[in-house]
Amino acid sequence: MKLMISIALLFLLPSCASQTSVVYIESSPEPLDGVIQTKIKDTVSLVCTLNGTHEDKELVWLRNDAMIKLNDGNKENRSCVCINPVIQKDDGATFTCQLKSNSSHSASVTLNVTYSADLSGSEKVTLEEEESLDLQCDMRANPLATSVTWQLNGTLVDLSTGGFIITNDGINTKLYAKKVDRSLHEGSYQCTVTSPGYGPQSKTFQVTVTDKTIKFPLMPTIAGVVVVALTTLLAIVSRWRVIAKCCK
Ligand SMILES: *[C@@H]1O[C@H](CO)[C@@H](O)[C@H](O)[C@H]1NC(C)=O
Ligand SMILES: *[C@@H]1O[C@H](CO)[C@@H](O)[C@H](O)[C@H]1NC(C)=O
Ligand SMILES: *[C@@H]1O[C@H](CO)[C@@H](O)[C@H](O)[C@H]1NC(C)=O
Ligand SMILES: *[C@@H]1O[C@H](CO)[C@@H](O)[C@H](O)[C@H]1NC(C)=O
Ligand SMILES: *[C@@H]1O[C@H](CO)[C@@H](O)[C@H](O)[C@H]1NC(C)=O
Repeated sequence: MKLMISIALLFLLPSCASQTSVVYIESSPEPLDGVIQTKIKDTVSLVCTLNGTHEDKELVWLRNDAMIKLNDGNKENRSCVCINPVIQKDDGATFTCQLKSNSSHSASVTLNVTYSADLSGSEKVTLEEEESLDLQCDMRANPLATSVTWQLNGTLVDLSTGGFIITNDGINTKLYAKKVDRSLHEGSYQCTVTSPGYGPQSKTFQVTVTDKTIKFPLMPTIAGVVVVALTTLLAIVSRWRVIAKCCK
């Protein structure tokens, strides 16, 4: 019985070893336990190599199960892809290289992209008396934000006056007030998000409260739809530029 197990192991071990080493990935920066530590705007290059001689030499790359388009000459025996620049959406993305003819011969690495909250600049907001105030800031950061604050005219927003409500859902931090009153709500608002390893990031909103008027809501609605459509289109277009190749 003992002998049989030994013999079985003898046959199993080499086949396991060769399965894991048919394709392998080398990267800059180097991975630790399959995770590449990087930060936004950096460059990551991955080289996949076919180990030994195989009948099928063609390699393919996947980013989270989506095929990456490779140029001819960057497919046989060795293939490299370059993520330049690394963007926020690459955080947690898995890059897999596999033999085209047999996906069970594969190797993967995952990116851990650190980034601060993407906040800057100043936005003008004009409201009429009695409208609701609704400001929001993206609070996403890696590592997670340790502090999220809202200020009005340079001091922390006082939740006991003005009917302010602050909510954080991990993605956005929102400052809300149901009915604005010029004396309480007009001013300069600032959201600030701090995460470890990065300084505080802020965005300012200059809120002006005007007198109440009668409204025709059709035009703003149409403009809003156009803006949403354009933003979506731009997001799709810019996505195609992300994965460039940098083989040497
Ligand atoms: C390449 O294959 C050989 C033989 O199967 C193995 O000893 C070696 O460790 C492999 N190299 C890598 C980098 O996987
Ligand atoms: C791939 O490797 C094989 C065997 O080592 C070799 O015959 C072939 O020319 C190589 N192909 C390329 C494109 O380097
Ligand atoms: C793919 O490779 C595995 C491991 O070597 C092997 O067991 C399997 O039969 C191969 N599949 C095909 C379709 O060649
Ligand atoms: C990613 O890196 C950050 C900073 O080093 C670390 O705090 C976090 O735990 C890492 N996340 C994962 C999923 O490895
Ligand atoms: C904030 O400062 C502006 C400009 O000094 C002032 O007009 C406004 O009333 C202030 N807002 C509050 C709520 O104090």
